[in-house]
Amino acid sequence: MVCNNSLTAGIFSDSRNFYVTTSDKPNRYQLEKARRLAEELSAPYLDKRRSILANREGGFDFFYVVEKNRVLIRNQSDIFFFHPSSAKMRLRNLGHGQNEYLLDAFQLSGQERVLDLTLGLGSDAILMGAFLPEGKVVGLESSLHIYTIVRYGLQDYIDPSPRINESMKRITPIHADYKTYLRNLPDASFDLIYCDPMFDHPVMRSSGLNPIRPFANHEGVSAEDISEMRRVTRGRIVFKTLIQDRLLGQVPVNKIYGSKSSGILYGVIL
Ligand SMILES: C[S@@+](CC[C@H](N)C(=O)[O-])C[C@H]1O[C@@H](n2cnc3c(N)ncnc32)[C@H](O)[C@@H]1O
Repeated sequence: MVCNNSLTAGIFSDSRNFYVTTSDKPNRYQLEKARRLAEELSAPYLDKRRSILANREGGFDFFYVVEKNRVLIRNQSDIFFFHPSSAKMRLRNLGHGQNEYLLDAFQLSGQERVLDLTLGLGSDAILMGAFLPEGKVVGLESSLHIYTIVRYGLQDYIDPSPRINESMKRITPIHADYKTYLRNLPDASFDLIYCDPMFDHPVMRSSGLNPIRPFANHEGVSAEDISEMRRVTRGRIVFKTLIQDRLLGQVPVNKIYGSKSSGILYGVIL
C-alpha cells in the first residue's frame, strides 16, 4: 500500500467530497456495482471520461474505483485498498514458532463470539478468525470509508490460503460507533471484546495502518466505555496499545502481554 503525508490524520473522516467511478473498460457487473455503491454512499457516479475531467479540475478529496475484483479509494497521490497481508505474515510467523501476543492475550478455545470494537483493516480480526473454527468475529468500524473498503475486501478478496478465506468469512463487519453500539447491546452478549484504538504516538514510517489514518476515528476510550465493555462481555476484554501511549495508564488491566522490542502491548481485563 502507498500513502504519503498528504493524507494526514482524520482529515477525510466521513467526507462527502468524493465520487465513485470504475477502472478502464468496465464490464457490466462493475458498472452495476459502481452505481450501487454511489447510491449507498449518496455520492455521484462518474464514468471514466467524467472522472478524468473531474480530476483535472480538482474539487474532490478522493474517489472510489470499482475494479474487476476489488474496490479501492484513491486521490492524486495515494491509494487505499484492502489486503490481509499483515494477518498472513503473522500466521506465517506463528507457523515458524514465533509468538503472537494477541492470541496469548485471548486464549481462544475456538467457539467464541468476539466483538472487535475497532475493525480497521481487519488484520487482527482475520488473525483471530483463523483460530475460531466454530466462532465468529463481529467487527465495528465507525469510519464510513474504512468500513466500505474493508467490507468489500472481506467479501471480494480471494487468497491463495484457504485458512485466510475461511477466516474472512467468519467476520461480520458493521458500520457503527462502538460507543453507541455497546450501549444498545444486552448484558453478556459476547464472549470476548477486543479494542485497538488509534495510537497516540504512531510509528508512521513502518505502519500498515498509514492508508487508513486520514479516514480513521481518533477518539479515545472513556471510563464509561470500559464499564459498557464489562457489561457486554462474559469473558476477557483485550486492549492493544503502544508502550509509550497513555491507554494502559487509564485502563485497569489485570495482565499485560507483549514485547519491549515490538513496543506493542495487549492489556487484558479478566
Ligand atoms: C488502530 S485501528 C484498528 C486496526 C485493526 N485492529 C486492524 O487489525 O486492522 C483503529 C480503527 O478503529 C476505528 N475506530 C476508532 N474509534 C472507533 C469507534 N468509536 N467505533 C468504531 N470504530 C472506531 C478507527 O476508525 C480505525 O479504523
